[in-house]
Formats: sequence, C-alpha cells, structure tokens
Amino acid sequence: MKTLIKNGHVVTAVDTYVADVLIDGSTVAMIGIGLEGVVGTVDTTIDATGKLVIPGGIDPHTHLDLPFGGTSSSDDFETGTRAAAFGGTTTIIDFAVQYHGQSLNQALDVWFAKAEGKAAIDYGFHLICTDLPDARLPELKGLIDQGVSSFKLFMAYPGVFLVDDATIFKAMTAAGNAGGLICMHAENGVVIDVLVKRALAEGRTAPKYHALTRPTLAEAEGVHRAIAIAEMADSPVYIVHLSSYDALKEVQAARDLGLPAYAETCPQYLFLDYSYYEQEGFEGAKYVMTPPLRDKSNQEQLWKGLRMNDLQVISTDHCPFCFKEQKELGREDFSKIPNGGPGVEHRMSLVFDGGVVQKRINLNRFVELTSTAAAKIFGLFPRKGTIAVGSDADIVIFDPDREQTISSKTHHMRVDYSAYEGRRVRGVTETVISRGNVIVENGTFKGKAGMGRFLKRGTFA
Ligand code: URP
Ligand code: ZN
Ligand code: ZN
Repeated sequence: MKTLIKNGHVVTAVDTYVADVLIDGSTVAMIGIGLEGVVGTVDTTIDATGKLVIPGGIDPHTHLDLPFGGTSSSDDFETGTRAAAFGGTTTIIDFAVQYHGQSLNQALDVWFAKAEGKAAIDYGFHLICTDLPDARLPELKGLIDQGVSSFKLFMAYPGVFLVDDATIFKAMTAAGNAGGLICMHAENGVVIDVLVKRALAEGRTAPKYHALTRPTLAEAEGVHRAIAIAEMADSPVYIVHLSSYDALKEVQAARDLGLPAYAETCPQYLFLDYSYYEQEGFEGAKYVMTPPLRDKSNQEQLWKGLRMNDLQVISTDHCPFCFKEQKELGREDFSKIPNGGPGVEHRMSLVFDGGVVQKRINLNRFVELTSTAAAKIFGLFPRKGTIAVGSDADIVIFDPDREQTISSKTHHMRVDYSAYEGRRVRGVTETVISRGNVIVENGTFKGKAGMGRFLKRGTFA
C-alpha cells in the first residue's frame, strides 16, 4: 500500500519545507519534490497544498480506564485513543498501576489486557510503582528490557500512591543504572493532607478548596526534592504535569546547573486558571485535577519555560470523569471529587492556537513540544516523533487556517463536558495517518479498535 502526500509544508522539530512524502507500507519511504512523476503508481494521493504535514502527536501522559477516586476514568483504550486520533495524536504513553502486593509484571499485564483489541493508535506504558521493597527493585530492569522504560512515583496521595523518599532514592538509583527514567508527581502530599483535613474540619467543602489546599509551594518543594534526590542517585528525572511558576523555577535552577531534569506541562495550565473554581454551584468540580489550576499569572511563565526549553513536553494528563455521575461523588466534600480532567483530543489545536498563532512559539517548537521531545525522552525516536525516511508513517495533515469551536457536543471523548467549552481555536487536524493507514479523514474515523500496537520503548538516551 503506497500513499503519496503531495505538496504539503513538511514541518519537523528542525525543518520547514514544501515537499512530497511517499509512504510505503507502514513507513516513510521517500521525501522529495515532484515525486508524483517518479514513484510510479500509488494507491492513494493526498493533496496537502497549503496544509502542514507534521509528525503524529505523542501524548506521553494519559490515564485510560484508570480506577481512581472510587470510580474509573471514563475513557477506555477504545474511546480514548479514537478521540486522541481525531485530534492528531497517534501515540500515547499511558500509566499502568502497580497496587500493593503486586509484582511489576502482574501490574503491567492488567494494562496490556485493557489496551489489547481496543487501542486505535500505538501505545506504550509507564508503570506507576506503589510497592517497591528492596527485593522488588531488580524488577525495574526487567521491565526496562521489555520496553517499559519509565516509571511514575508519587510524592502525593498518602495511603494511595505516595512512596517515601528512601523508596524514591532507591528506585531512581535502580532505574537510572538500567537506563530507565523516573517520572515524578511532585507535590508535598503529606502537608497537603493536613491542609485538606483542616479545611474540611472548618466546613470548607466546595471544589475551590481543592486548589486552596494545594499551594504552589507544595509543588515547588516536591520538584526541588525530586531533583535533589535524583542528583544524589545520579539519575535523570522527569517532572510530570508541572503547573506553576514556583515549580518551574526549581526546574530552571537545576537545568542551569546542568542537571538532567526534564518537565512537562499541560494545556490546562496554559489556558485555564484558578477563577474556574469560583464558578456557581458545583461547576468547579469539572476542573478538580492535581495539581490544580493556578493563578493566571503563572501562564506566561510556563510559555516562557516552553520557549526556553526549561519545559520540554506538552502532555495532557487526560483523566476524564463525567460531571453528572462521577464528579458528583464529591459534592459534599471536595476531597472525594475524582481528580482529573479530559484533554487528549484538543492538545494539538490548543497548543497551535495558543502557541503558534499567538506567536509564543514557532512551528518547529510546536512539533517538538507535541511530538519530537516526548519521542526522544521516552525512547521512541526516530521511529516516532519525526518525518524521515524509515520512520513510522504517523503523519498529520493539519490545516493552519481553519478554525473550530471546542465543545462536548462535538468532541469524541467519552465524557459529558469539555474543559474548553465554547473556545474557538485556529488549527484543525484534517487527516491522520497511523503507520501508513488513514485513520481520520474529513472528520470521519477510518481506523479500527485494536489497530494500535504496543510500543517497546528504548532506554533513556
Ligand atoms: O488529577 C490528576 N492529575 N489525575 C490523574 C492522576 C495524576 O496524578 O496524574
Ligand atoms: Zn500525577
Ligand atoms: Zn496523570
């Protein structure tokens, strides 16, 4: 099966040029000018004149079918990956969870079963580790050898996910030695727990207290500690869902010292802010996620961090819960609202609009932040994250001029609200190709559940 994408603006993290791209089977076979007359018969020709031809998006932070907060995230691997595809994301890295008493492989097997036969795009796994006695540390290397080369540890959620500093240090040492990467949920969860209990004891139960009990300093302290422990363990560290300037300053300081500290932020921290919690009634529950939305003044600092490469990746932390049935669990007590929000579908358009259209980042940086950097950090490059001869033909044809209005009425995520309801954005995913197969075309899904393949990732380079 051969597909020729004609005359598009090919954009990678480093190049921008007009060219034709020939896909043969599942990979890119040729890039050049005037290929139509040269390559002979093809099965499909796509005219991309005036469109951007970019690497498929990589979202390295999703939670599909995640049991959490007394319920499960509302998108499973079928609905979540289909929604991702509609938005131009062709690879996700989801978080499998090891619960107490489970071996790391037992945990992973549960997530393999969740994804198999359902995922419409390629997927990898990080593993959330919650139970790491010394005897289990060698299992980290076993997982890295199987292509699960990153692990998430939590400094938050005592009694659920939190692991202590000794465990963090040992895990970083073991993972670092084997070429693995620790992803850190960096918030001082122990202090936050006290603040939460205090607020509830004072009768402060509304959604906004979720934010007011999770100060930016708790995040900054977690980031500082994570990086310091990583330095002592001589290992890299990747801070997930960084939300605030206070936390960013810690990453900046570390990187200025030359430490291998990396971080991602998410669209919600770039476009939404604390005022969303102040809405009437229980509306604020829609935005209960961790870390919480911050004061608006943080946003330009995060954009600056993205520009200056103190932040390398924009992921979504997609972890949707329906407003009517699931967020409702915390109507009387904000600490019982399932933490997380939807976002996997609109990352590319939001970042293009807020970043490129608003002139905060250029096109190459847009591609780097939404695809290439994640591929490099998480051991997928150059198979994913670029358009090059031999790379997987994961390609998005993106219309930089068309506009869309984001709404739960039109989105494909299985959740009954949009965090961006009514927001108009410029930049629309038009055609999505996954390993050579057109999976989205003119707003129609052409892929199939189960088409996605597990990605055995390499070590941290
Ligand atoms: O609120 C969030 N972020 N839910 C998902 C779990 C996590 O901490 O990433
Ligand atoms: Zn987290
Ligand atoms: Zn998350």
